[in-house]
Amino acid sequence: MANIFAKKPLAQLLGEANSSGHGTLKRTLGALNLMALGIGAIIGAGLFVRTAAAAAQTSGPGVTLAFVVAAIGCAFAGLCYAEFAAMIPIAGSAYTYAYTTMGEFVAWVIGWALIMEYALGAATVAIAWSEYLNKLLEVFGTSIPYSLSHSPFESSVVDGITQQGFINLPALLIIVVLSLLLIKGTQESAIFNAVIVVVKVAIVLIFIAVGWQFINHANHTPYLIPDNAEPVKNAAGAIVREYTGWNKHGWGGILGGAGIVFFAFIGFDAVSTAAQEAKNPKRDMPIGILGSLAICTVLYILFGHVLTGVANWREFADPALGGEASVTYAIAAHMPGYEWLATAVTVAILAGFSSVILVMLMGQSRVFFSMANDGLMPKAFSELHPKFRTPYKSNLALLVFVGLFAAFVPGSLAGDLTSFGTLLAFVLVSAGVWIMRKSDPAQHRPFRAPLSSPSFPFVPLMGMLVCTAMIVGLDADTLKLAVIWMLLGFVVYFVYGKRNSKLQQGIVVIPTEMEEQAFIEPDKDNL
Ligand code: ALA
Repeated sequence: MANIFAKKPLAQLLGEANSSGHGTLKRTLGALNLMALGIGAIIGAGLFVRTAAAAAQTSGPGVTLAFVVAAIGCAFAGLCYAEFAAMIPIAGSAYTYAYTTMGEFVAWVIGWALIMEYALGAATVAIAWSEYLNKLLEVFGTSIPYSLSHSPFESSVVDGITQQGFINLPALLIIVVLSLLLIKGTQESAIFNAVIVVVKVAIVLIFIAVGWQFINHANHTPYLIPDNAEPVKNAAGAIVREYTGWNKHGWGGILGGAGIVFFAFIGFDAVSTAAQEAKNPKRDMPIGILGSLAICTVLYILFGHVLTGVANWREFADPALGGEASVTYAIAAHMPGYEWLATAVTVAILAGFSSVILVMLMGQSRVFFSMANDGLMPKAFSELHPKFRTPYKSNLALLVFVGLFAAFVPGSLAGDLTSFGTLLAFVLVSAGVWIMRKSDPAQHRPFRAPLSSPSFPFVPLMGMLVCTAMIVGLDADTLKLAVIWMLLGFVVYFVYGKRNSKLQQGIVVIPTEMEEQAFIEPDKDNL
């Protein structure tokens, strides 16, 4: 009888990594490098798209507070991630951590949830890319028709005519192009990434500085959405957004918004994956993780404050107004004389999004790779291209899967599912730290999360609590779909994974060089 809670032995895992000669990486990263890594991986569609979505759907100008709640959850979970990453320097993924601490079934659950984080995350950013592409085309007096740049579940009233979405072709296109690029194995150069990081931070700073003068304080009153807020209607008088649910107004809306803007913080865990490359992990990891989180949180709060001050949050609820490409909309509609800034921001955002999509697609193929290597996924996912040495079958499968999502699912739904998957992984990783402290206290831990003793696991408990609260605050429809997705995962595990698991069959899996680099390379490139 197979034991679905069988654990991959940590000592064996570490021993294999060391004996295969790939276990030690050069310790070259200081606290500042780690912070740059974090900031580079963090800022993306979350800020430029989900901020306005959270303001319009649940939080109003209080989206700034939603950022604070999300950052608190990330800080606690981030410290837990760092402890694991420093202790298990093989593949810095939540999937591997869980396999050694909570057993195969939980590892599977995390791996399945990570599909939401990476694959749906890539789809979300691709859909955001499509919105901003259309804004750019408008500068040149053209645009892609509504029906060909939106999912079948979206509609909008433009100039009195109702437009119905059919397929999001630009989002599909960018996924296809970047997947093919990944198959070829094109490494983004470190310089290219460094430029993108600088550009991303520059846009945020310029928008805050310039937009500050255009803040209309009336837009900030009241600060939270009142419980009797009028529904938002489109030009044809149809209701497009209501505020009656507990998580759609007031403080409940702040929690609901935290789950939405949480997307903007995804990627900071990249810092934890570099733990084994930190010069002084004990000191540099908390500085790197908490420092990049703190800087981004401050930037996000200021950004949210300006965005909801320049335009009214209700405008972001109407797809024909600021519901799409919100930053470009806010500048164009409310900051006269700064049309050039709208265009510059759009171009920079398009470039920045492309690199986020690339990293997410790469991350997903690496998770599949690890799972296939363990026998939990079909072997095809771990097969490398004979010439390019990339997991091309995995990339092709993702091209289809992520492409379909990008083409036929609304960005809001994909974004919320991404938040769900990542939050679930955070909850389980936080729990894993506590379990490991109890079950294996003697294990060498180069970095220890503070206040996490087995008898007083404050940090893990807070990580679990705050992230669970954000999951609960997500939209009810999102939660229903997420539960269906997870149930589907259980079926796949019991029908396929459990039967083919190498651990269950007593086969020892040697971590390959590829697996080892899996979560390190894309992140390192961001430096
Ligand atoms: N944090 C990344 C973004 O917002 C995923 O695009």
